[in-house]
Amino acid sequence: MDPLFAFDDAQCQALAEAHGTPCFAYSGRVAEGQLLALRAVLPARVRLAFAVKANSHPALLRRFATLGASFDCASIGELEKVEALALPPGRTFFAGPGKRAPELQRALALGVRIQAEGWEDLARIDALAGGEVAVNLRVHPAFDIAEGNRIIGGSGPSAFGVDEEDVPELLARAATLRHVRIRGLHVFAASNQRDAAKLLAIHGAVLDLARRLCETHGLVFEQIDLGGGLGVPYAAEEAPLDLVALGQGLSNLLERHSWFTGELILEPGRFLAGPCGVYLARVVRVKESRGTRFVILEGGINHLLRPLLTGQPFPVKAVGKTEGQVPVTLAGPLCTSLDRLGDVRLPELAPGDLLAFGTTGAYGLSEGMTHFLSHPVPPEAWVD
Ligand SMILES: Cc1ncc(COP(=O)(O)O)c(C=O)c1O
Repeated sequence: MDPLFAFDDAQCQALAEAHGTPCFAYSGRVAEGQLLALRAVLPARVRLAFAVKANSHPALLRRFATLGASFDCASIGELEKVEALALPPGRTFFAGPGKRAPELQRALALGVRIQAEGWEDLARIDALAGGEVAVNLRVHPAFDIAEGNRIIGGSGPSAFGVDEEDVPELLARAATLRHVRIRGLHVFAASNQRDAAKLLAIHGAVLDLARRLCETHGLVFEQIDLGGGLGVPYAAEEAPLDLVALGQGLSNLLERHSWFTGELILEPGRFLAGPCGVYLARVVRVKESRGTRFVILEGGINHLLRPLLTGQPFPVKAVGKTEGQVPVTLAGPLCTSLDRLGDVRLPELAPGDLLAFGTTGAYGLSEGMTHFLSHPVPPEAWVD
């Protein structure tokens, strides 16, 4: 089985016929495999919290909940989806740079651990809380190991967290609050990183930062949240993340930082959900224009916006066709020349042919612009 595609050609054909196109399909087996493979290498003191923004399909959330996952939410909508899972306390987190008072109120009522992004979060939580509330402080570090990628934004200005150099002033203000206690750190500094050594370098730098903060300011951290960022391959030549190296490296870090006795948290979205999804769409037209062959599909950036936003294309195959490879530009049906899904080489295509985009279980439909042009929202099939 091609690891880029959760379903083989016969399964893709059957799914397209059963659910109609365009559609998404998610493999419960593959999603479970991702979670169990990662869990198996992690030290017991690492908690896995699935980043719901990657894919909030209820069956996927239920499956991960059954397997013991915690959840990272970033809106009231995501909190409500996780609330429906009726989890025990301590398994839900709430992050986001623009939390409104009703969202904070809801998170407090649900006993969710909040990642405070700055003074406004701390002050609002303090005003809303009826008693002591432990929160994690999200810090935007000065180091830039993530190479300034477009998702995290590198070490420059950021809407996320409090800049590392401003932490001392913020802590002094936070000491005046009645209810809020900073009991953890949150740093998210990587995205789609398939190099375990680079991830571990970031995690090591975060633990060093945590130690400096605890030593300098007398803080005690129950949790250090290392964010997401675990990468997956999007092309045959891309090597997968070395999970054994990641797990071993995290064990080594915990040993090296024996001052820290709390739990580490990882919040992967892409790693846990990406590989389980395919997006299926049929060719509507093939058009030559001034030397470029456009293959116009039933769906475009209304369903898969990620490549346009980040420059990371999803892998694509022509279902049931392998002969020949011609360069084509994949376009969607929307009335904007931004509606492109990639410049790729595919076999000769004709109207009605089925394309499958692989590894679309994360940041696929959850990030699509489904309202734009009001095409029907594609069905999402959960296959177990
Ligand atoms: C706070 C937070 N945690 C976790 C994630 C998940 O990241 P990834 O899908 O790269 O693992 C994100 C993604 O934007 C995030 O903002």
